[in-house]
Amino acid sequence: MAYYSGDLIEEVISQNDIIDVISEYVTLKKSGRNYMGLCPFHREKTPSFCVSMDKQIFKCFGCSEGGNVITFVMKVENIEFWDAVEMLAERANIDTSRYEVKSYYNKMDSTKKDLKETLFKLNRDVGIFYHNNLIELLKEENNPVKEYIVKRKLDIKTINKFGIGYATGKVPLEQHLSSLGYTKEEMLASGILLESQKNGKMYDRFYSRIMFPIFDIRDRTIAFGGRAFSAKVLDKTIPKYVNSPENEIYFKGKNLYLMNFAKREKLENIIIVEGYMDAIALQKFGFPNAVASLGTALTENQARLIKKYTDNVIIAYDQDEAGQGATMRGLDILVSHGLNVKVLRLDKEDAKDPDEYLNKYGPERLNKCIQNAISLVEFKVSILEKGLNLENFDSKVKFLTGVANILSKIENNIERDLYIDRISQKYGMSPGPILKEVEKGLKNKPSDNLVIDMQTLNKKMQLITNVRKRQEQYIVALLLSRKPKILEEIFSSIKSSDIENEDVRKLFDFILSLKDNYDINKIDILSKIQDEDMIKEITDIMYIDISGYEEKLLQDVLKNKKKEKLFTRRDEILKRLGENISNDEGEILKYELNQIIIELSKLK
Ligand code: CTP
Ligand code: MN
Repeated sequence: MAYYSGDLIEEVISQNDIIDVISEYVTLKKSGRNYMGLCPFHREKTPSFCVSMDKQIFKCFGCSEGGNVITFVMKVENIEFWDAVEMLAERANIDTSRYEVKSYYNKMDSTKKDLKETLFKLNRDVGIFYHNNLIELLKEENNPVKEYIVKRKLDIKTINKFGIGYATGKVPLEQHLSSLGYTKEEMLASGILLESQKNGKMYDRFYSRIMFPIFDIRDRTIAFGGRAFSAKVLDKTIPKYVNSPENEIYFKGKNLYLMNFAKREKLENIIIVEGYMDAIALQKFGFPNAVASLGTALTENQARLIKKYTDNVIIAYDQDEAGQGATMRGLDILVSHGLNVKVLRLDKEDAKDPDEYLNKYGPERLNKCIQNAISLVEFKVSILEKGLNLENFDSKVKFLTGVANILSKIENNIERDLYIDRISQKYGMSPGPILKEVEKGLKNKPSDNLVIDMQTLNKKMQLITNVRKRQEQYIVALLLSRKPKILEEIFSSIKSSDIENEDVRKLFDFILSLKDNYDINKIDILSKIQDEDMIKEITDIMYIDISGYEEKLLQDVLKNKKKEKLFTRRDEILKRLGENISNDEGEILKYELNQIIIELSKLK
């Protein structure tokens, strides 16, 4: 990764409005000058996540996460600082090459970053290695792997595009990687090589498998999936798929297979399938918007990723029980992220997944199924209906109660009524009882009133911050006020050691250290901070509104500071007076004590 000058940070912040960026992940509602929403960093029912348009910062008053647009992207995407900067630069079409510098002054975290960079490279090299293996093998006659590849209709164009390969396990990968200069630690960190417990020797995770490289959204190879092709799969003596373990660069629940190919400015919809082969087949047959969840239930992270590109999702999971169950679990997460979800039904019994269907019946027919995809509500109702005999009285009651439960979760009143009509017609029942049951469900729903006023929030804040700390926070708030005279006065009369609270003191020291190189009244101080605790603290402070009160507050702060000093000195004198001291010293101290008491009474 390239190293950039700090100017890029400011450019990225100024070109990415925090409201726009956060709106891609969180539904925000305007509330005065702020925007409120449900915090993406902890579970909550009423919103305490607050984004300030003026200050371009966010703060959750529930879990205390906070920061600027870069901090937000770091947290929500679980990526590191410079990766977030790069991502936001890309989003705003900033030419990062203009900001590249030769050496990197901030060595913080550099070893960790280097390992990640190395792992991206290593995975790429391994991908090329497997791919070349396969290409070589395809030249042979009567090779069982080749036969399998042909049977699965993987043509050379597809193999090249998706970097499909083959792990023989015969030419040791370790040797190849060593020759490219990778260390043993790096190989083990990738999870592609393992160390034998018995003799300490390295061996390959993938052996005799068709290899699918898994890419991240930025086209980097982050992991592999390997499919066995031998008969042993059928008798279940070996697992059908083996996958890379999660590591520094691979987080299963954050990625969607082939999303790097699917992503576009604005996609009409995204088709989510279960398997590697399904996503590949769909893309091959002219559905570039297909991605795979790779057999696991969808996560919040994946929902957010999708929401960046589209509002509409079509789920095309396997038609077996397992596939239907997985469908159910993922759907509610997608819906809670504001996605419209439809479920695809394959209209042929003898094709269990989209790959098989495409190869048997072709893309046009699949496209018809896509057009006929049913809504989430219809899908849930149909699952409910399965296995119930609606002629039976008890089953019918069970069915209708279940339907009412599903319908009461629909937010939109009109939509809900339409469904009641449709379902009562379809099943030949009168809509009245369903409606009543739905209404019952609605009453029990927690309210999700998104508007909270800032006053309540401020009060909440006040309560959790003690008075002493608050006084010290004011000092930093004044430093952030961009008023040169105030800054001067603070720096001339307050020392770091005057501040008791450690977090506030760290911030004070940091701002003081910035003073030598920058005009603090002009720069964005928050953008210079990378320490998490300091970011939390400064965003807390940025939410304290002192505009218009700066002068008065400064006087208060200075007065309190002076009072504190006098109190300390008073206590010292009282202590000394209790000791065995000379008369002269006693007289002097008593005089001083008197002066202090007078001073203090003036300060009241
Ligand atoms: N999977 C896995 N490990 C397994 C089985 C499945 O990781 N032992 C994941 C894979 O990502 C796979 C997905 O679940 O792609 C769906 O599984 P399945 O439907 O069984 O496989 P297909 O993708 O349809 O593969 P194929 O068509 O080659 O049988
Ligand atoms: Mn399949």
